[in-house]
This record gives sequence, C-alpha cells and structure tokens, in this order.
Amino acid sequence: MRIIITKDYDELSKKAAEIIIGVVKNKPNAVLGLATGTTPLGLYGELKVDRDKNGTDYSKVRAVNLDEYAGLGADNKNSYAYFMRENLFNGLNIDLKNTYIENGAAADGAAECKRYDALLESLPRDIQLLGIGSNGHIAFNEPGTPFGATTHTVELAASTVKDNSRLFDSIDDVPRKAYTMGLKSIMRSRSILVLATGANKAEAVKNLVNGEITENVPASVLQLHPDCTLICDSAAAALL
Ligand code: PGA
Repeated sequence: MRIIITKDYDELSKKAAEIIIGVVKNKPNAVLGLATGTTPLGLYGELKVDRDKNGTDYSKVRAVNLDEYAGLGADNKNSYAYFMRENLFNGLNIDLKNTYIENGAAADGAAECKRYDALLESLPRDIQLLGIGSNGHIAFNEPGTPFGATTHTVELAASTVKDNSRLFDSIDDVPRKAYTMGLKSIMRSRSILVLATGANKAEAVKNLVNGEITENVPASVLQLHPDCTLICDSAAAALL
C-alpha cells in the first residue's frame, strides 16, 4: 500500500484530485468508482475547479457509486444519488446517463443487488475511491461482512447511523438499511484510492495499514490489493 500523509485536509483533497484527473486524462472513457460522505467533498470541489479552469473532459467518463440508502429514491435530498449530482456531477460535463448507483427505491432488494452486480461486471473500474468509517467499514460493509460479499443489503451499524445522523434533521430520519457494493467487488477495481481525515479515523487507519487482515475490520482487506493508495492527513495518520 502506498501511503501519502498530508499536513491537512486541503492538501489531501488536492493530491487526491491530481490522481483522479490523471486517470481521466490518461483514459478519457475511464470508469471511476466514486464515494459519498464528507471526506471526498474537498476532492470533488477540486475536480470542479479543475474542470472550470483546465477543461478536463468527462464526456466519456463512466461513474459507478458504492452505496445507497434503502428506501430513498434518487430525488430524495438525503439519497446518495442526489448527493453525487449536487456535489460533483453538476459541476462536470459528465453525462448523467453514464452515472450509476443502486436504486434506493427498488421494490425488490434482491433483484436490485443482482442488477448492480451485473452492471459492475460490465464496467470494470479503473480506480475506486473510498472513505473509511470510524469502525473500519468501507462503503457500507460493516464489521463482520465476508470478504467474498458482492452487492447486498445491510443493516447499518449503530455507530454508522450515529456518524451519519449529522446530515439528517434527526437521528430518527437516518435509514437503517442500505445497499452496498461488496468487498469482493471493491477489490476488483484496477486501483484503489482511500482517503481519511481527522482524529476520529486514526484508529481505523491504523487497523487498515498495520492491523490483522480480518473481517472484523473490513478495510483491512485492502492490504491484499496490489495497487492501493491511502492519503490521510496528519490527524488521521497519528497512530501510524
Ligand atoms: P465520511 O464517511 O467521509 O463522512 O467520514 C466515510 C465512511 O463512512 O465511509
């Protein structure tokens, strides 16, 4: 695993943007695996600034997202589909038809997982962006998820509901279930870029880099990926 430690979040976001922009310049029809959460917001801001300033072209780029809350349709303000349009896609010249995410409003959850797995098979990712949960989760693969998991529905861990409640009016509004790309599918990306910021991620970062490879820490599986880069700021790197 390549590890880049930055002095702060701003530098982390700029370094991450350099990597994603490099992928897109190198391969104009690249498939980007994207993530939601607070961590990639700085990176997404940098990509939009670069698009405005330098005209990096996303017209042929395809994007697949990691996860979506079950029960929230794409127009719901708290859905990840909405998040991606608001925070990234609207500032790029990406064709929304080339952006993919699980359908949170699907009537048949099992069929939706199957559909998403088939889609992932047809769109091999050049790079997969990841945040990391304070409990070591990646996407919504909570501790205990088998490394062999493909797209599945999950009951969110209490810590995840609490972490994510800051984005909702009240903790009671946070959905308790979600769809998530599985660890097996994440590992199939050609390369992986993990971002971590802040002291509350320090323990998870330590376990990601130096911990035992165990399903109790889903992120530890990334130690087995041949092309994984971690960028973290000094607070998240404090226990390395
Ligand atoms: P965050 O979430 O970026 O909002 O901290 C990361 C995650 O839970 O995967």
